[in-house]
Amino acid sequence: MPEIRCQGVSLTKLQGGLSTEILRAVGLTARQGEIYTVIGPSGSGKSTLLRLINRLLEPSSGTIFFAGSDIRRMPVTEVRRKIGLVFQQPMLFPGSVEENLCYGPRLRGDNSREAAKYLDMVGLERELLQRDAAALSGGQQQRVALARALANKPEALLLDEPTSALDPRATEQLEDLILGLVQSLRLTVVWVTHNMEQAKRVGDRTMLLVNGQVVEERPTADFFSWPEQELTIRFLAGKLESGVQGNEL
Ligand SMILES: Nc1ncnc2c1ncn2[C@@H]1O[C@H](COP(=O)(O)OP(=O)(O)O)[C@@H](O)[C@H]1O
Ligand SMILES: [Mg+2]
Repeated sequence: MPEIRCQGVSLTKLQGGLSTEILRAVGLTARQGEIYTVIGPSGSGKSTLLRLINRLLEPSSGTIFFAGSDIRRMPVTEVRRKIGLVFQQPMLFPGSVEENLCYGPRLRGDNSREAAKYLDMVGLERELLQRDAAALSGGQQQRVALARALANKPEALLLDEPTSALDPRATEQLEDLILGLVQSLRLTVVWVTHNMEQAKRVGDRTMLLVNGQVVEERPTADFFSWPEQELTIRFLAGKLESGVQGNEL
C-alpha cells in the first residue's frame, strides 16, 4: 500500500549563526485513495513538508515512510517517480506540451510517446500536443503539469497550492479532475492549500500546521465541524493569518 507516513519529522536550519526550527516533530499518515490536506498560515512550513517527502530536503530528525519503506533507503529517482509533485506555478519546461509530457518517461528510457493518453486523463484536447506550453492558459498549463506528473505513473501526488494561481472556475474544474483521478488511479495525495473551503471540499483528513508544528489533525468533516484546539478555532475564524508567537503553541 503506497501510504505516506511521517514520524517525528523535524527540520532545523542554521541562519546567520542562529538555529531555527522550520518543522518540529511532524507526524501524518496519508492513505491510498485518500486526500490528506494540510492547511496553515503562510510560512508555517507546508511547502517544506512536501519537499521533505519528495527528498528535495532531508529532515534533521524523524523518518518518512513510503509504502512501508524509509525513503532514505530508496533511490532518490524512485522516490521522485513514485511521488509526483505539482506546484502552485505549473513550471513547465520551454517547448511543446508533448515535450513536457515525454520528458520524465524518456529519462527512464521509455520512448513510448503516450503523451496523448495523459492529455486525455486531464481533459485536454489532443490538438494541444504540438502547442508551445507557454502559450496555454493558466488552467491548461496546470493540467499539463498534472499530466506530466501522471506520465511518470506515480503512486502518490504532492500538491502545493495547485489552484491558487487559478480563477474560481478553473479551480473548481481542477479540483473535480483531481478528485476523479484519485479515485480512478487510487493515488495517495497530500494536498497543501491555504484555502480552508478547498480543504473542506476535497479532504479526507485535514491537518493544521502552525509555526512548523501540528496543531490538530482529524477526519476533514470533524476538523471543520468540531475543531478541538483553540488555535484551530482562531484559524478557521480567519484570525491566524500571520501565525502565532512561539509561546502560544
Ligand atoms: N531554503 C530555506 N532556507 C531557510 N529557510 C527556509 C527555506 N525555505 C523555507 N524557509 C523558511 O521556512 C519556513 C516555512 O516556509 P514554507 O515551507 O515555505 O511555508 P509555507 O509553505 O507554509 O508558506 C518559513 O519561515 C521560511 O522562511
Ligand atoms: Mg508554501
